[in-house]
Amino acid sequence: MERVSTGIKGLDEIIGGGFLKGSTTFLTGPSGSGKSIWSMQFLTMAALESDESGIYIPFDETTRNITQSSCNFDWKINDLAERNKVVIYRLKPVDLHNFDPDKIENNLLNRLASVIKKIDATRLVLDSMLPIMLRMQDEPHKFYAILQYITDATKEVNVTNMLLAPQMGCSLCETALKVAADNIIELSFEPKGNSFVRCFSIKKMKGLDHPLGKQCFSIGKKGITVDPGKKFI
Ligand SMILES: Nc1ncnc2c1ncn2[C@@H]1O[C@H](COP(=O)(O)OP(=O)(O)OP(=O)(O)O)[C@@H](O)[C@H]1O
Ligand SMILES: [Mg+2]
Repeated sequence: MERVSTGIKGLDEIIGGGFLKGSTTFLTGPSGSGKSIWSMQFLTMAALESDESGIYIPFDETTRNITQSSCNFDWKINDLAERNKVVIYRLKPVDLHNFDPDKIENNLLNRLASVIKKIDATRLVLDSMLPIMLRMQDEPHKFYAILQYITDATKEVNVTNMLLAPQMGCSLCETALKVAADNIIELSFEPKGNSFVRCFSIKKMKGLDHPLGKQCFSIGKKGITVDPGKKFI
């Protein structure tokens, strides 16, 4: 099956070439752990290196914030946005307010599908699922139905996607997200001396062999980098 880059070169090597094309990755971890940066890098690297187009939906970040913070990295984000290679598609709060899981085909998921078609997107990021999860915490079965819709619809059109959410402990919506996703990557802060190091661990990769354990990473001018020489700890 065809592989696509995770956006992080060291990781692609570790897992034998990247994510499976059309797969859904649940990227989780505490606030500030690097989820948004990774997901934006997932889009920008694909645009810069393979001329792919991607869509970033900032459910709980303002467009201005994400564009501004992406300018800190060597990603040429403004140029990519101008050329529709990375489209930041902002859904207004009213879209979420009107969100009705019983009418999936008539609301935002349908609109999403039309944007994917319009720019011929191969990648999609939803940052983050938290507002929907909070809204549906008493209706996890409906949230699961939405997830199944997203994973099936993206697989059908080969759009590799990342769904982001912080860790919420034992929430049923979080469990649904873990079950529905093909891949789960957890970011963490690991104590080292009187400080912390950034790490990620792969908790699930359907159909692929992958290492277990924690891999350190850093955030610098190029975004997130992993040293493949440094083994999982
Ligand atoms: N230019 C940069 N260079 C180095 N580190 C940076 C840079 N920009 C941001 N960071 C680090 O990344 C962190 C923010 O990462 P990010 O926004 O991806 O977190 P997140 O997991 O999405 O958090 P949240 O759940 O709150 O949205 C900052 O707290 C900072 O430590
Ligand atoms: Mg974020």
